[in-house]
Amino acid sequence: MKASTLTNSVAAIHADIKSADRFEGIWPIPRGVSLNSYVVRGEKTALIDLLKDWDGSVGQFEEQLSSLGLSFETIDFLILNHLEPDHTAFLTELRKRNPSVRIFATEKGAAMVRNFFKITDNLQAVKTGDELDLGGGKKLVFTEAPNLHWPETMVTYDPGDKILFSCDAFGSYGSLGGKVFDDQLTEAEHAVFEEECIRYYANIVASFSMFVKKAVESLSALDIRIVAPSHGIIWRKNPQEIIRRYAKYAGYNTGSAPEKEICVIWGSMYGYTKLGLDAVLEGIAAEGVPVRVHRVPDDDASFVLADAYAAAGIVLAMPTYEYKMFPPAAHILDLFARKHFTGKTALRIGSWGWIGGAQKEYEEKTAGLKWNHLPACEWQGIPSAEDLATLRERGRELAAAVKGSGV
Ligand code: FEO
Repeated sequence: MKASTLTNSVAAIHADIKSADRFEGIWPIPRGVSLNSYVVRGEKTALIDLLKDWDGSVGQFEEQLSSLGLSFETIDFLILNHLEPDHTAFLTELRKRNPSVRIFATEKGAAMVRNFFKITDNLQAVKTGDELDLGGGKKLVFTEAPNLHWPETMVTYDPGDKILFSCDAFGSYGSLGGKVFDDQLTEAEHAVFEEECIRYYANIVASFSMFVKKAVESLSALDIRIVAPSHGIIWRKNPQEIIRRYAKYAGYNTGSAPEKEICVIWGSMYGYTKLGLDAVLEGIAAEGVPVRVHRVPDDDASFVLADAYAAAGIVLAMPTYEYKMFPPAAHILDLFARKHFTGKTALRIGSWGWIGGAQKEYEEKTAGLKWNHLPACEWQGIPSAEDLATLRERGRELAAAVKGSGV
């Protein structure tokens, strides 16, 4: 595969990862993921962001560098916007092949280069506003962007071609194949990427939404013609679309209303909690609110998080298990807390066998999330007709609250 041309002096190279490995060792990537880097040429040549040796990625990079008449050995400067190993793990090998390559990162990033890779020479720390002159009228400008996605992160801007190299920010899951740019995708392909974008955001970025909001505000001062992230498609036709999308996602857990949808997360040991959930779903259906349903542990947490993050309403239906919550549901709530899934309207229901306990743990786990809780419904064993009537009504109340929520 050849490198992709952005402008006369900028090209993209990428590796499509299609292995069964999980991203970050946690998140499944059935549609793959891309590792993107960018070559910027003046009199000197810079490579923006690197890669890890993963599923043939190094060979893919070498082939595309070769199509530009370059190799890892001939790069002058390496800009590391972010030190997470998906973008840096190849650094030790690169340095072996190219000892004189000069590395640029933020001060915290440079410390990570020293500590992770034991590299101390030809390493320069940069800060917001610093410029790298490539010669021939080409320069790059750095802006620190802490917590997008780690504290050391920065973005790089090409003021000549007005390209923002944003690393993780504005990225998504999904491999690219030969379609690298937004204007090459069909509507159906864009819909797939949008699904993978919100899942990536909910899995990787949601904890840092306040920082996304700040970054979107500060970047609004730049004239951005191309958004070039290090995962996912490059936005050259409509760069504002991915910025708008990220701003919307960042609002979901920082005070703006999520979508008027309900995400149902349920588990049932012998079907009794499921009987109650069916009544809740009838109540929701009566109000006509869209519902996305995930059974745990059957559905992977990655997909549960994507739908739950976007939804204004949450149903957690799970039984008591050994005095506490059904463990797969407890795991999902732990992830919600870690990723700050705040501001939901929620209903918790469930059956218990010889004693309860799930509700107590549920309340502990959601205490910091600023959720609006409808009264919980619990019953012993099989729900009675009276229980089912209450559950139907709770479902209707939740759906009505979601319909009335937000903007
Ligand atoms: Fe793509 Fe946070 O690394």
